[in-house]
Amino acid sequence: MKEKINQILENAKEEIPACQDLDKLEDLRIKFTGKKSKLHSLLSKIGELPAERRPEIGKALNITKNKINKLLSDKKEELEKISQRKSAQESKIDITMTGRQISLGAKHPLYQIWEEIEDIFIRLGFEIAEGPDIETEYYNFDALNTPEDHPARNLQDTFYLKNGNLLRTQTSPVQIRVMENHSPPIRIISPGRCYRNDKVDASHSPVFHQVEALVVDEDITFPDLKGTLDSFVKRLFGPKIRSRFRPHFFPFTEPSAEMDILCVNCNGKGCKLCKNSGWLEMGGAGMVDPAVFKNVGYDPEKYTGFAFGLGIDRITMLKYGISDMRLLFQNDLRILKQFS
Ligand code: PHE
Repeated sequence: MKEKINQILENAKEEIPACQDLDKLEDLRIKFTGKKSKLHSLLSKIGELPAERRPEIGKALNITKNKINKLLSDKKEELEKISQRKSAQESKIDITMTGRQISLGAKHPLYQIWEEIEDIFIRLGFEIAEGPDIETEYYNFDALNTPEDHPARNLQDTFYLKNGNLLRTQTSPVQIRVMENHSPPIRIISPGRCYRNDKVDASHSPVFHQVEALVVDEDITFPDLKGTLDSFVKRLFGPKIRSRFRPHFFPFTEPSAEMDILCVNCNGKGCKLCKNSGWLEMGGAGMVDPAVFKNVGYDPEKYTGFAFGLGIDRITMLKYGISDMRLLFQNDLRILKQFS
C-alpha cells in the first residue's frame, strides 16, 4: 500500500512540473486528485484495512494529497503568469515601457486676446452677449438703419445664403437682439465671428472677429464712449497708450467716429506698421442713432447710448507683433507653439 502511495507521488512530481498549459494541468488535477484517481480509490479502501494500519495509511494518503495539491497550485500560478504576459505581448502592450511624452495644446493667440478683452470689459461692469453667425437681412442691415442701396448690402461685400439669410458682416446685429429682449440699462459686449466677401491678404480675411459693445441708459453721452474706449485700450496696451477719435459715418450711429490709438510700435513717431501716420485704426464707434432705438421700441427721448465695434484679429496682431493676418488662420504649429 505504501509503495502504491509513493508511486502516485512520484508520478505527480514528474508530470505536474513538466506540464506546459492550463488545460492539461486541469486534466492532471483530475487524474491525480479527482473521484476516479488512484489516490481517491486508495482513500476509499482505508475501511478495508486492519484497524491498526488505518491511521498510518490515512496519514500517508493525506500528506500525499496535500503535496500533490501544492504541486498543482504552484504550477497553476506559474502558467497563469505566463499566459498573462503572452496576452499582453499579443496586444502589443509592453507594460514595462515608460510613458510617452504628451505634448500639451495651447489656446490660439486670437482666443487668448478674446478672453483678455472679455476680462477687461467684465471688470468694467459689462456682460457678454451672443448672437448667431447666420443672420437675417433685418438684423444685419434693416434694423441697423442701413438702407436698401447701401454698398455693404451688395453681393460683392456680403455672403448671402440661398434662403435669403446671410453670414453676418458685423457683430452689430447683436445690439438689436439684445435691445429687443431687454430694457435699459444695457451694458454688453459681444465678441464673435464675422464674414465679408474680401480677398485674402496680409490684412483681410473673409472670416474675421469683432467685439461689439453697447451701452444704453438715461444720460449716456459721447464722453462716456470716449472714456470707456480709452480706458479699455490703456488696460490692453498699457497706460501710455493714447487714443483719438476721427469723425466718420455709420448708418446706425450718429454722430459716428473711428478710433485710433497711438502706434504701439513707434509711439507716434511714424513707422511701417502705422504707415508713418503715428496712429493705428482700432474700429468704429458712435452714439446709437434714434432710428435704431425706434426699431426696437425704445423711447429715443428718454434713452441715449453708445456702441462700438473693434477688430479682434487686428488687436491680436498688434499685441503679438504679427504682421500677416493669414498666420492667424493657417494653423501652422510652428506659429501656434510660440503662444503656449
Ligand atoms: N459694425 C461696424 C463695422 O463693422 C463698427 C461699429 C460698431 C460702428 C458699432 C459703430 C458702432 O464697421
